[in-house]
Amino acid sequence: MAGTRTVLILNGPNLNMLGTREPQIYGRETLADIEAACAARATALGLDIDFRQSNTEGELVGWIQAARGSAAGIILNAGAYTHTSVAILDALQACDVPVIEVHLSNIYRRESFRHHSYISGVAEGVICGFGGQGYLLALEAMEGIIERGQDD
Ligand code: DQA
Repeated sequence: MAGTRTVLILNGPNLNMLGTREPQIYGRETLADIEAACAARATALGLDIDFRQSNTEGELVGWIQAARGSAAGIILNAGAYTHTSVAILDALQACDVPVIEVHLSNIYRRESFRHHSYISGVAEGVICGFGGQGYLLALEAMEGIIERGQDD
C-alpha cells in the first residue's frame, strides 16, 4: 500500500515452540528472540513490523486478507501449512501484497514431503536454511521491494 512501511511477519503452527522444539533442526533461538532481532533490523531499515504467530490456518488466512491495504509486505513462515494449504495460497494470491517465504531449516535437505511449497509460486523469493537470520535477510530484501514499488 502506498505510504505504509509496515511489514507483516507471520509465523505458522508450532513456531511458538522454537527454542525447545527439535533444537538440532531449528536451533535454540526462541520466537521472541527472532521478533526482537527483526524489530531492531526493521528500525535500522526504516520499516515497522507487525509480528504474529498462530497455530490455526483460518487465523493466518484472516491476517493475510487484512494485509491488503494495510501492509507493505508479508514475510511468511507458514510452518507445516507451507506444504498443505491451498487456503493460504489463495489468500496470498488475493491480497496483492509482496510476499517473501522464509523457513528456518533447509526444507530441501529434509523429508520429501517438505520439498513442495504452495507458497513459493506466489512469493517474490524464498529464504531457507539460515535459522532466524533468514528473517533478517527477508526484511532487507523486502525493504528493496518496497522502495522499488514506491518509485512506480
Ligand atoms: C519450517 C519447515 C516446515 O517444514 C515445518 O513444518 C515447520 C518449520 C521451517 O521454518 O523450517 O514447522 O517452516
